[in-house]
Amino acid sequence: MPNFITIETATELLKNKKVVAIPTETVYGLAADATSKLAVNKIYKIKNRPSDNPLICHFYGLKQIIEWGFVLNEVEKKIIKKFSPGPISLKLQLPQKSKLKVATAGLDSVIVRIPSNKIFREIIKATNVPLAAPSANTSGRYSPTTAKMVWQDLGKKVDGIVNGGKCKFGIESTIIDAENPTLIKILRPGPIGVQELKELLGANVKIKTVKPISATPGSKYKHYAPKAIVHTFIGSKNLKIKPNSILLLTTQDIKNWKASKYYDKSIKINSLGSIYEPDKISKKIYRKFFEIDQKGFDFIYLSKLSTNLFSEKGSGKALAERLSKVLSQ
Ligand code: TXA
Ligand code: MG
Repeated sequence: MPNFITIETATELLKNKKVVAIPTETVYGLAADATSKLAVNKIYKIKNRPSDNPLICHFYGLKQIIEWGFVLNEVEKKIIKKFSPGPISLKLQLPQKSKLKVATAGLDSVIVRIPSNKIFREIIKATNVPLAAPSANTSGRYSPTTAKMVWQDLGKKVDGIVNGGKCKFGIESTIIDAENPTLIKILRPGPIGVQELKELLGANVKIKTVKPISATPGSKYKHYAPKAIVHTFIGSKNLKIKPNSILLLTTQDIKNWKASKYYDKSIKINSLGSIYEPDKISKKIYRKFFEIDQKGFDFIYLSKLSTNLFSEKGSGKALAERLSKVLSQ
């Protein structure tokens, strides 16, 4: 039986330096008191996360961030005021002697986020301490977007799971470095796209999506992968699809595949939905991986969703980036 718990129990457990999985509007997080070395170490152990990979710290609001000694420039404040609470995270300089140092893997910066999920907000408010929370999955795997996904992956390793249903966005937050107010770096694309940032900041501010490998330590590790091996689907070629495979395709690719001379109706298909609605695909992509893993498929042939297919608005670019990382070839 899943160890689902109430908000009150989760709060109690967190106050006692335990680790609980909680819903957020992006993906489920594995939360612990961000000021406690003991609690934070448990997160690393449960996730099997390399110890040099820092954690995001979650706050109730800008007021709490400032109370913790952070100093924000005007652009950082503007970004927070516009998009928070919500699926955006900011890299900030860690204040001197901050107790949050235990969550940063030794770095002098910390990534902060103000989540909008009501359950998570209630829990932060009740614990009255910033909560460190990476995505609630074993390191290297896709993030969970339902409580059941957390349970199947981490089981009793976590002290409890708060069931908040399906996550609204389904992929991880946009991470921004706005230390230089005239050149904003996107360290990880997410549900808030370049377009939304441009609209807020105007033409004088440059926005650059940087190669995450240099800026975000965690991105040097394998990410977002299902158990099944993932190949790109090219429907116009004779693919020699391996046994126990499933095709995970956009509606458009399904149509093309069915019209192709290589079409083989014995091969199972799962639909991602329309390529013109990347936000909808983002919302369900990790859940699709989970369902496919549960069914025990060995191979996934995935529609190629290249970044240049999507506009700069919303989750499209982030989705293409995530999917490029799960490909095995
Ligand atoms: O939507 C989200 O952001 C979710 C929910 C739970 O809030 N959290 C999340 O955390 O995705 P995580 O740990 O799975 O991904 C955070 C990424 C990691 O790649 C980590 O290496 C990077 O952010 N990171 C954390 N602190 C950093 C820092 N101070 N400097 C550079 N990168 C950092
Ligand atoms: Mg993660």
